[in-house]
Amino acid sequence: MEVIIAQNAQEIAVIAADLIERQLLHKPNSVLGLATGSTPVGTYRELIRRHKEKGLDFSKVTTFNLDEYVGLPPTHSQSYRYFMEENLFKHINVPPANIHVPYGHADSVLDFCAWYEEEIKRAGGIDLQILGIGRDGHIAFNEPGSSLGSRTRLKTLTEETIKDNARFFQSMDEVPRFAITMGVGTILEARKILLLASGEQKAQIIAEAIEGPITSQVTASALQLHRDVVVIVDEAAGARLKRADYYRWVYNQKRRLIPTLLGQSN
Ligand code: GLP
Repeated sequence: MEVIIAQNAQEIAVIAADLIERQLLHKPNSVLGLATGSTPVGTYRELIRRHKEKGLDFSKVTTFNLDEYVGLPPTHSQSYRYFMEENLFKHINVPPANIHVPYGHADSVLDFCAWYEEEIKRAGGIDLQILGIGRDGHIAFNEPGSSLGSRTRLKTLTEETIKDNARFFQSMDEVPRFAITMGVGTILEARKILLLASGEQKAQIIAEAIEGPITSQVTASALQLHRDVVVIVDEAAGARLKRADYYRWVYNQKRRLIPTLLGQSN
């Protein structure tokens, strides 16, 4: 794992956008795995800026989103589909046919999930997966206890997640209780993974996920098994990392000696 401790959320966005841009320059038809939540919004904004100002091209890109609430139509202002349209898709030139977000109104969730897995395979697998992290350590909606080999499926949300997400809804009762989510196993098959976290409310769980034991109780800890993960946190989210000085030292050495290798994992 490479751990980068950025100064603030803005710097996270720039470093993450650099890595994504490099991926697209290297492989214009990359398959990107995308996340929702407030954390990646700055990165999406930076990508939009680069698209508008520098012509960063998404015309050959394919995208797969991690998850979606069950029961919300794509037009609902709190659906993840709507979120992605507003925060990224409508501002860049990714072809609509190449966009995949789990469909929360599927007649058969089981069939839909199997189809989603197949679509990822048909696209050649995910080249670069962007992730946030929930306060309970979830990636996508893989709540504590999710199998570390899990695939795309229906998941019941925890009370903590429902409470955390209630800020986007009028009342707690409106927050969906179920979601379709890529599994931990699905996520681990991405060729490269970028985990982003900012703010002190993420400090404890980031320390557990990166430096704690690998456990299904903190599904983000499964990322320790992956050979190419870059974690970008700000000072606040990295505040409880025991080896923070080492991570800084590695990053500075790389930046000084081999700038083109930045972003490649240890
Ligand atoms: C939701 C999403 C996750 C996201 C998490 C954290 O639970 N399913 O993919 O990582 O929220 O959100 P935020 O970035 O707003 O803290």
